[in-house]
Amino acid sequence: MNKIVLLVGATSMIGRACARVLSEKNMTMILLGRDSEKLGNLKRASDSADAHVLDVTSEPQIESIVAEVLKTYGSIDAVIYNAGIYPWKDIESLSLQAWRDTLDVTLTGAFLMTKACAKIMKKQRSGKFVFISSLAGETIGVPHMSAYATSKAGLNGFMRTAALELAPFKITANSISPGKVYDAASMTEAEILDKTKPIPLRRFVEGEDIAHMAAFLISDLAKNITGQNFVIDGGQSILGEEGHVVDVL
Ligand SMILES: NC(=O)c1ccc[n+]([C@@H]2O[C@H](COP(=O)([O-])OP(=O)(O)OC[C@H]3O[C@@H](n4cnc5c(N)ncnc54)[C@H](OP(=O)(O)O)[C@@H]3O)[C@@H](O)[C@H]2O)c1
Repeated sequence: MNKIVLLVGATSMIGRACARVLSEKNMTMILLGRDSEKLGNLKRASDSADAHVLDVTSEPQIESIVAEVLKTYGSIDAVIYNAGIYPWKDIESLSLQAWRDTLDVTLTGAFLMTKACAKIMKKQRSGKFVFISSLAGETIGVPHMSAYATSKAGLNGFMRTAALELAPFKITANSISPGKVYDAASMTEAEILDKTKPIPLRRFVEGEDIAHMAAFLISDLAKNITGQNFVIDGGQSILGEEGHVVDVL
């Protein structure tokens, strides 16, 4: 399954898991993000093929890196769009700049990456887009996350439009909406017990869970799946209003 995969927002927790898991599956991982030191470390640690510094709010940077990757590797088979920022402010305290920055990174960046890569994939008559969204986009409301939730809801709408526009070219677009992702290795047992209480499966969603779903969506096994949003949250979002989690018997 040697595919050329652009991973945008590679240095994040979920991004790092994607780099590691997809490299292990013999995908050629091209890591993209703003921090060259973090990218270099991750490239070595995950055995990824390549890394480039990229600010997703810059159309010229996106076009130049996409062209460079195409020249070097000959195709672009998939894009995992994982970049995001989340200012934690109530609506009245949130600045217009923070609102705009959030929409720029999550939504406009996804649009620009899709625009740059779709024209290459159309010529190939194949390609996959996987957008990392959030439960806050469509499934639940989260106070103090208005810009973030709006950007992720927009991302899902964008994904469905892309899926339909690109379907004639056998290109798919899907999103993954993780619940809260934790790094359990850095927590005490008491913290883990406390934080997993509201999760029906009583365990954390981890970066690897998202990475394996992304790998599946990029694989040929998922060739007929498009326009869908996949929630990975241990069952948290299906709880009713009383939030019943069944105790271990
Ligand atoms: N963690 C969770 O619980 C959770 C839950 C649901 C959804 N998500 C989504 O999953 C994704 C990853 O989340 P995370 O918590 O693992 O990551 P994170 O620590 O928030 O990292 C965000 C990533 O986005 C990149 N990024 C931000 N602005 C950028 C820009 N202008 N240009 C290029 N890259 C940019 C960062 O790259 P640099 O470091 O290079 O700047 C970083 O790799 C996000 O989209 C997030 O919304 C996370």
